[in-house]
Amino acid sequence: MKIIVLGGDGFIGWPLSLDLSKEGHEVYIIDNLTRRSIDKELNVSSLTPIKDLNSRLATWKRLTNHDINYVNINIDKDYEIFQNLLKEFRPDVIFHLAEYKSAPYSMRSAYHKIETVGHNINAANVILSSIIESEIETHLIHIGTMGVYGYSSMKNTYIPEGYIDVDINYENGFKEKRNILYPFNPGSIYHLSKSLDNLIFQFYAKNDNLQITDLHQGIVWGCQTDLTILHEDLINRFDYDGDYGTVLNRFIIQASLDYPLTVHGSGGQTRALINLKDTIKCLKIAMNNKHEKNNKVRIFNQLSETKTVKEIASIISHVSNTKIDNIKNPRNEDSENDLVAKNNSLIRLGLDPIMFNENEALGLLEIAHKYNKNCDISKIPSQPSWKNNNN
Ligand SMILES: NC(=O)c1ccc[n+]([C@@H]2O[C@H](COP(=O)([O-])OP(=O)(O)OC[C@H]3O[C@@H](n4cnc5c(N)ncnc54)[C@H](O)[C@@H]3O)[C@@H](O)[C@H]2O)c1
Repeated sequence: MKIIVLGGDGFIGWPLSLDLSKEGHEVYIIDNLTRRSIDKELNVSSLTPIKDLNSRLATWKRLTNHDINYVNINIDKDYEIFQNLLKEFRPDVIFHLAEYKSAPYSMRSAYHKIETVGHNINAANVILSSIIESEIETHLIHIGTMGVYGYSSMKNTYIPEGYIDVDINYENGFKEKRNILYPFNPGSIYHLSKSLDNLIFQFYAKNDNLQITDLHQGIVWGCQTDLTILHEDLINRFDYDGDYGTVLNRFIIQASLDYPLTVHGSGGQTRALINLKDTIKCLKIAMNNKHEKNNKVRIFNQLSETKTVKEIASIISHVSNTKIDNIKNPRNEDSENDLVAKNNSLIRLGLDPIMFNENEALGLLEIAHKYNKNCDISKIPSQPSWKNNNN
C-alpha cells in the first residue's frame, strides 16, 4: 500500500514507519520536526540519543534497502503543498499522528493553549479538506485519546467505543432514541483539542462520507521495538520530562537514578495503558480491516489495561527498590477515580495485549540505566500549570 505517516519522526510515528516499510509498503513521512523544537523550548531532550530524521532514514536504507520518503511540511498550514502531494502520491492510507500531545504543555500559558488548539484542530481540517479537494480515495486513521472522557469516577459503568444509545425525553412529551457520541469531559486544553477533533471528523464523515477511524488511545509506555533496536541510529525517543514524559516512563527514569518515584497526591488516579508495540499492532489492525463507509467515524478504544498510578509506582518500586514520594498534585484532577473502558473491537480483530508487569519494568529499566547519564533530574517533576488547583 501507499501510506502517509503524518508525524513520522515522533515517538509512535517513527517505529510505525519502520514497521510499515519493513512490510513492503511505500511509506511517506510528513513531519515539520516541531516536537524537536519543543525540546529546545523546554531545554530538555529525549533520554535516548535520537538521530536527526535524515540520518535515521539513511541508516534504514543502508540496513534494509527500503526507501522511506520524507518531506518537511507544516500540516496545519501548508495545505496547498499537502494537496499536491496527495494528488501525486495517492495514498491508500493516511495515519494522522502529527499533533501537539502534552496535557501539561498545553496548560503552561495562553501561548501554549492557543498553539495547541490552533494547531491540532487546523491540522484535522487541513487533512480532511485536502482529501476532498484532491479527489482521492483514502482511509484516514487518527490517534485520539481516552483522556477526552475525563477522569471522573464512574461507578457501575464503562466507557463504550465512541457511541452510546440514549433515550431523550423532551419537555413537550416527545421521546426519541438516538445513538450519539459518548460525552466528552476534557481536563486539559490538549484533551479539549482532541475532543474538538472528534467533531471535525464527524462532520467530514457525515458530509463527505470519508473513511475515518479514530483510535481513542491510552497512555503509551515503552521505547524500543524489534526494528528500532536494529541500530543505534534508529533508536526511538524516550521522554522523561514533566511535560512530555508519561507517568510510567518518568517513574522508570527516577528508579534508574534512585530518585524517589513522585506520585501525584494519593496515586489513586486510574489511567488506561498500552505498550508501544501494541499501539503499532493496533494501527495496523485498523489499516488492514477497513470498515464499510456509512457516513460515520469508526471509533475504537485503544488500550490494554487500566492501572492506578500507585499500582504502577509499586511495580517499579518493587523491582528497583526505589522509595515512593507522594507529592502535591500539580494537576487539577480527581485524586481517585475508577476507569473501565471497553476494548472489545481491537481484541476481536486480533490484539493480544502486553500487560505492564515486573518483567516489562525491568526491560525498560535496562534502557534507562544505559542512558541515564543524559538525564537532567530537574526536568522530571511536573510544573503546576493548572490554575485553580484545589487538590
Ligand atoms: N504517546 C502517548 O502516550 C499518546 C497517548 C494518547 C494519544 N496519543 C496521540 O498519538 C499521536 C502521536 O503521539 P506521539 O507520542 O508519537 O507524539 P510525538 O509528539 O512524539 O509525535 C508527533 C510528531 O508530529 C510532528 N508534528 C507535530 N505537529 C506537526 C505539524 N504541524 N506538521 C507536521 N508535523 C507535525 C512532530 O514533530 C512529531 O514528530 C498524537 O496525536 C497524540 O495525541 C499519544
